[in-house]
Amino acid sequence: SLRQHVPKGLKSPPGPRGYPILGNVLELRKDTHLALTRLSQKYGDVMEVRIGTRPVLVLSGLETIRKALVKQGEDFMGRPDLHSFQYISDGESLAFSPDSGEVWKARRRLAQNALKTFSIAPSPTSSSTCLLEEHVSKEASYLVTKFLQLMEEGKSFDPYRYLVVSVANVICAICFGKRYDHNDQELLNIVNVAEDFNNVAASGNPADFIPVLQYLPSRSMSLFKDFNKRFLHFLQKIVKEHYETYDKDNIRDITDSLIEQCLEKKAEANTATQIPKEKIVNLVNDLFGAGFDTVTTGLSWSLMYLVTYPDIQKKIQEELDRTIGQERRPRLSDRGTLPYTEAFILEMFRHSSFLPFTIPHRQVLRLQGRWQDKVDLRHLVTATPAAVRTTRDTVLNGYYIPKDRCVFVNQWQVNHDEKLWKDPLTFNPERFLNAEGTGVNKVEGEKVLVFGLGKRKCIGEPIARWEVFLFLSTLLQQLEFSVCDGKKVDMTPLYGLSMKHKRCEHFQVKQRFPMKSIS
Ligand code: HEM
Repeated sequence: SLRQHVPKGLKSPPGPRGYPILGNVLELRKDTHLALTRLSQKYGDVMEVRIGTRPVLVLSGLETIRKALVKQGEDFMGRPDLHSFQYISDGESLAFSPDSGEVWKARRRLAQNALKTFSIAPSPTSSSTCLLEEHVSKEASYLVTKFLQLMEEGKSFDPYRYLVVSVANVICAICFGKRYDHNDQELLNIVNVAEDFNNVAASGNPADFIPVLQYLPSRSMSLFKDFNKRFLHFLQKIVKEHYETYDKDNIRDITDSLIEQCLEKKAEANTATQIPKEKIVNLVNDLFGAGFDTVTTGLSWSLMYLVTYPDIQKKIQEELDRTIGQERRPRLSDRGTLPYTEAFILEMFRHSSFLPFTIPHRQVLRLQGRWQDKVDLRHLVTATPAAVRTTRDTVLNGYYIPKDRCVFVNQWQVNHDEKLWKDPLTFNPERFLNAEGTGVNKVEGEKVLVFGLGKRKCIGEPIARWEVFLFLSTLLQQLEFSVCDGKKVDMTPLYGLSMKHKRCEHFQVKQRFPMKSIS
């Protein structure tokens, strides 16, 4: 039977009764983060719901989540083994493989080091502090020029489609040493399709929770297939070019550094640290995929808040004028001296909570099912909240949790918990400032949960925070953002893998002071 054996003295987590087969799907179908937050108020920080036939543990409350993911981190470091995941060959994907053993650990460390070297570590080849600063500064300045040009051509524009290319360019530069033109069709195909994809997939993949559905054909599957082919082609071409021009004395980017690892470790006996040649594409893909959609979404939400709250925008600009002035561009090292800007970014992360669960931003799939004609399909974006999985039987807050339980971590609940925040629905950056307004209150800042916690925590967190900071400060130093008279932006989040807002074509910018060739 499905009933688990619960050891004496322990109880199973409470939760709502569901329907047979569907479980609690009907209650959770729309705005899952809100539904689960409401249920947690009734059942507590550790509760169990059923999604289809699958029991899912839902964690809420910052203390409980810290206990699980940090203190008992070893118990909670797996990834769920959902239907969509089962086609991932062992260890191929850093982010989404259910594996949590040696191979995953080695790949994670490798990716972390490569990321650091080509982003925030001091760079001998760059005149900037580091390569990340160089890339972001260049892209942000391009955006300033582009937005002004768009204002001359029309009366308004949708900033999202320019942001996404600039952010993709930053991660392209880090991963592939390459920048694309904003009209490059190859890149546009990738970033725009990824976005359609998020929309199509926003409802989740039901087959992950109701196993019988996996045998039915699905329209989104054929979209997956198409997108995937293009994406894989795009990446394979880049990796191939790198192999052809590889020079071990001149490691240009992350792809080169992975090739180096792959060639150097070949002789070693430890299989965990070896990367087979074919798998380089997958590692690069993990970083590329995780690195552009999330940061773009964060920046795009920031612009929405800035035009909704012009007074807040003005305060940031006053701080920039006071601290940096107009003679030079912002640098990463300015971050510590701009507490209000920092507080705004924290409040944007908290209030939007655009990754409502600690879901990986996308899944990397290889489907070899019936309708796929054995085509190698990877890099599919779906909205299955994947969160983590228990790696062994464990106990949390007195509740028994068996091995291999799928776990959702409700970040949205933490960021809107009335026990942690005063007026959580109000957008107010000042909540993060110390009493004198001269610095950010560190303890408050650490209550915001957006990058997950513990062993599976986002490896791009430092990069993402620096990137959002430098893009915003560069844009706001030179431009004032608004929407056309009589228009209002729609801040209702569209529920999905990551929560986006409706696109808005009514953005306008004004140059804040005469353009100088500042450096
Ligand atoms: C995982 C958030 C940017 C690479 C994650 C997770 C979250 C997250 C919530 C899952 C954590 C968990 O399961 O506990 C974000 C947000 C970003 C961002 C909000 C931007 C604002 C980035 C960037 C990169 C990146 C820029 C790389 C360049 C990854 C990778 C994982 C991950 C590789 C999987 C780690 C693993 O499974 O071991 N991220 N991320 N992320 N993120 Fe990010």
